[in-house]
Amino acid sequence: MLPSTYRKLVATHFSKQFREAAQIVEVELKPPAANELIIRNRYAGVNATDVNISAGLYTPGSQPPIDLGAEMIGEVVAVGDQVTGFQVGDVALSTTVGGYAEYVTTRASRVVRAAEATPHILSLALSGTTASIGLEVGELKSGEVVLVTAAAGGTGQFAVQLAKLAGNTVIGTCSSDEKAEMLRRLGCDRVVNYKTEDLDAVLTKEYPRGVDVVYESVGRQMFDTCLDHLAIRGRLVIIGYITEYLAPPEQVTSNRAYFKLLGKSASLRSMFLLHFIRQVPEHMARLVELYQSGQLEVAVDPRPFNGLEQVADAVEYLHSGQSSGKVVVRLG
Ligand SMILES: NC(=O)c1ccc[n+]([C@@H]2O[C@H](COP(=O)([O-])OP(=O)(O)OC[C@H]3O[C@@H](n4cnc5c(N)ncnc54)[C@H](OP(=O)(O)O)[C@@H]3O)[C@@H](O)[C@H]2O)c1
Repeated sequence: MLPSTYRKLVATHFSKQFREAAQIVEVELKPPAANELIIRNRYAGVNATDVNISAGLYTPGSQPPIDLGAEMIGEVVAVGDQVTGFQVGDVALSTTVGGYAEYVTTRASRVVRAAEATPHILSLALSGTTASIGLEVGELKSGEVVLVTAAAGGTGQFAVQLAKLAGNTVIGTCSSDEKAEMLRRLGCDRVVNYKTEDLDAVLTKEYPRGVDVVYESVGRQMFDTCLDHLAIRGRLVIIGYITEYLAPPEQVTSNRAYFKLLGKSASLRSMFLLHFIRQVPEHMARLVELYQSGQLEVAVDPRPFNGLEQVADAVEYLHSGQSSGKVVVRLG
């Protein structure tokens, strides 16, 4: 028996200060449309970009309130008339708008079935698929040098492992010895703790030919250093620039990027998951398979967050730079 109402987190006004923008509201739980599922949410994933969502940057033209959250895992509790392939009780994994909610109604085509509702499998939804699709955009090959920034984070950990699985040498950056240890365990060939080592000096000395693929999500000086070290025909994929999400954009004056790119036939690319939404279920299903067959590990940050009341704490924790692996909120 479904409840008549449920609670969810919405942004009542647009702000990058997630805590200020977010409010719990109680709304009616309507029956699913013909192509939809209703999922009782067990875990929601926390993402760096939650502050961009609460600022309305991903919903141009819309007015608050808007739903918050972007990925979830739980059990199917209602199935639309025309949905095939799902039944009540199935475990459902999705990158869906409104993941910070007790119940989520979403199109069945956006959902992948999983064996169990765990934080580990949840992490594959948005963080995992971002890595999988981002590396595809970077034309991941074998036998190349791949550099992953924020490598011990939610999405970085998957970029490291997928690049290794494809047979590459992988360099990962992070900010602490604990994270460095975790990265070695995940298979990173060279870990650079940028608080104790100079990435530019390491790359100059140890990788003089340059880096073939960069999975870059930090921005500012990290981005500049990566751009400087692209190999001939190297590809730098912009995944994010977390250093400028909560701080004002840094004004820079330098030669235009073509001075650094054309002489190496190198390229800058970017991947924003919303523009690849049709490919997400296929990548998610492959990641679930890799995880369930023991070929992919998932690091989940051990700090517990419980309930919609603690989502803002979790978002702030992720932005403190201390988290390691995927930050998750338990909802059910
Ligand atoms: N393009 C897309 O569709 C897409 C999808 C998902 C995520 N992303 C991007 O991927 C990046 C990582 O996101 P995530 O959710 O997986 O987060 P995360 O990596 O789990 O957490 C953020 C990590 O970034 C590093 N960092 C570096 N400078 C920082 C700063 N000034 N403040 C806070 N953290 C800083 C920290 O690790 P270390 O300093 O130890 O390295 C921190 O732990 C973000 O840029 C995000 O926007 C993009």
